Amino acid sequence: MKNEKIPKNKMSLYDQTAWIYDQRYREIQEEKYKTMLSKIAFKKRDLILDAGCGTGMLLEKIPSKHRAVGVDFSKKMIRIAKNKVRDSNFIQADLNNLPFKDNTFSKVFGVTILQNVEHPQMTVREIARALQKKGLTVLSTLKKKATKREIRELIEKTGLKEKEVYEVSEDIVVIAFKETKP
Ligand SMILES: C[S@@+](CC[C@H](N)C(=O)[O-])C[C@H]1O[C@@H](n2cnc3c(N)ncnc32)[C@H](O)[C@@H]1O
Repeated sequence: MKNEKIPKNKMSLYDQTAWIYDQRYREIQEEKYKTMLSKIAFKKRDLILDAGCGTGMLLEKIPSKHRAVGVDFSKKMIRIAKNKVRDSNFIQADLNNLPFKDNTFSKVFGVTILQNVEHPQMTVREIARALQKKGLTVLSTLKKKATKREIRELIEKTGLKEKEVYEVSEDIVVIAFKETKP
């Protein structure tokens, strides 16, 4: 996968754009959430992680009866998310070092994040670690930054099992699950 060169002060770059993020990207992100959420069956006991949650636009769409946590390393993104989605918890953390025990979440979303992280393989491994056995993850990246084949290979390398790969607007989306046996 071709990732952009990571600027030195990457976190502050996201901080600088946080205030305009919803205005710029709400419409396009909501188109992606719509397909993703329509493909996933939620359960009462789900514990959901939104990895790289940005301003919390996805968690706004998830019914408040589900317990959910958003993680992002941008303080300002997190601040906006906290103000918007009162019934979810938000934590400032790096996706390559998630502050959760193994097998914690039943569902992990990561919408339009794989092109932004420095080490996609490390990030997906970390997501897989935090995912419960039989848990489901929905991840996406910008089409212009990766091919479906590269996404499939990435998923395979991280030990997750691919369920579906599809395109929606500017993204390639992969739905994958964690097998019970390694
Ligand atoms: C393109 S935005 C997507 C935000 C959100 N998922 C959405 O649907 O709008 C990418 C997000 O990933 C976050 N991010 C990038 N690299 C990260 C990392 N290593 N750890 C935590 N967050 C990261 C950025 O701060 C930003 O909020």
